Amino acid sequence: MSRSTISAIPPYVFYELDARRTAARARGQQLIDVGIGSPDGPIPPVVVEAMQRAAADRSLSGYPHFQAHPAYRDAVAAYLHARFGVTIDAAKQMHALAGSKEGIAELILSHTDPGDVVLVPEVYYPVYARATVLAGAEPVFVPFLPDGRLDLDALDATQVARAKVMIVNYPGNPTTTSVTLDELARYVAFAERHDILLLSDLAYSELSFDGYAVPSVLQVPGADRVAVETHTCSKSFNMAGVRVAFVVGKAAAIAQLDAYRSNIGYGVGTLSQLAGAAAFTHHAVIVPPIVAEYRARRDAIVAAFNAKGWPVIAPKATMYLWLDVPEGMGDWEWVDALIAQAGVVVTPGMAFGDAGRGKFRVSLVQPAERLVAAANGIVATAKR
Ligand SMILES: Cc1ncc(COP(=O)(O)O)c(C=O)c1O
Repeated sequence: MSRSTISAIPPYVFYELDARRTAARARGQQLIDVGIGSPDGPIPPVVVEAMQRAAADRSLSGYPHFQAHPAYRDAVAAYLHARFGVTIDAAKQMHALAGSKEGIAELILSHTDPGDVVLVPEVYYPVYARATVLAGAEPVFVPFLPDGRLDLDALDATQVARAKVMIVNYPGNPTTTSVTLDELARYVAFAERHDILLLSDLAYSELSFDGYAVPSVLQVPGADRVAVETHTCSKSFNMAGVRVAFVVGKAAAIAQLDAYRSNIGYGVGTLSQLAGAAAFTHHAVIVPPIVAEYRARRDAIVAAFNAKGWPVIAPKATMYLWLDVPEGMGDWEWVDALIAQAGVVVTPGMAFGDAGRGKFRVSLVQPAERLVAAANGIVATAKR
């Protein structure tokens, strides 16, 4: 990878947001930060205890397993079966990741050559396109249909012929869109027809509300011939700082990732993997109170917007609201006005690609009363 490749990458928007936040705090401003989607809840006690035990265990001080610690592998396999009814060959179809962000980057880097294409949803979690550019490959953005499904018919045949990886993300960050299993089956069929690796980013598998259970692409019969799926402990279990995730699915893709990862590093830290094992083992107990808290926050902030005359529909999954920037304002202009006038930090939509312009994202990572204050500040700033 050349220096010119690195310099082709624009600065990470969250870095810029950080700089604005730091400058505002240095001016003595009190802020409500709903910018980055970093969960504010505690690591579950059962996970903390597992990490403490692992830290004190003399036998665990060496390098970790390259692919996955057996306890993590088994816990993941049991979780996939209990939660989705999916059975995997855990020795061949699963790999631990130090977070799904870098896992997704590694999957892209290990599956593309310069000149290849990666199909990326037009509004996207930034690493999809950034890792593609770092690989010397080309991101081709797939437009959304009005309901948020991918408009695969809009792609031109030569781009599809060059595509090696296609990424889908439902429930979506930042869009909050969900899809049915039938729709996932359509993506599987497309990937199979065109010999493309389908990468489903399922970062929000557990954060859904009102009786909606998020599907896994691996529930589509035969999906593991063409698809892999990334899952993470970051959001479902308040473990963003622990850095543990996994990828599961097509065995040949897992082997290719393993060949890549094992040449540039070791496995994911054993403490993190054993923390992940505890989280997935106890998912049925840990997840419901976390979801209940996000649901209460969602309901509070949506009600606050609606009460002030800004219509917002409650998303049925994720920890975000994806809203329109008031007419006539640029993305950064709006973000700066919110910081200056309301002390509220949000993420500009262009952080998620050009198609995100004109929108902004609110993360539900503050207690309900602060989210209500943020909504009131946002509405008041828009009215000025
Ligand atoms: C859609 C999506 N994928 C992946 C990630 C990365 O999560 P992590 O690297 O913490 O597993 C995020 C984090 O915000 C996300 O929103």
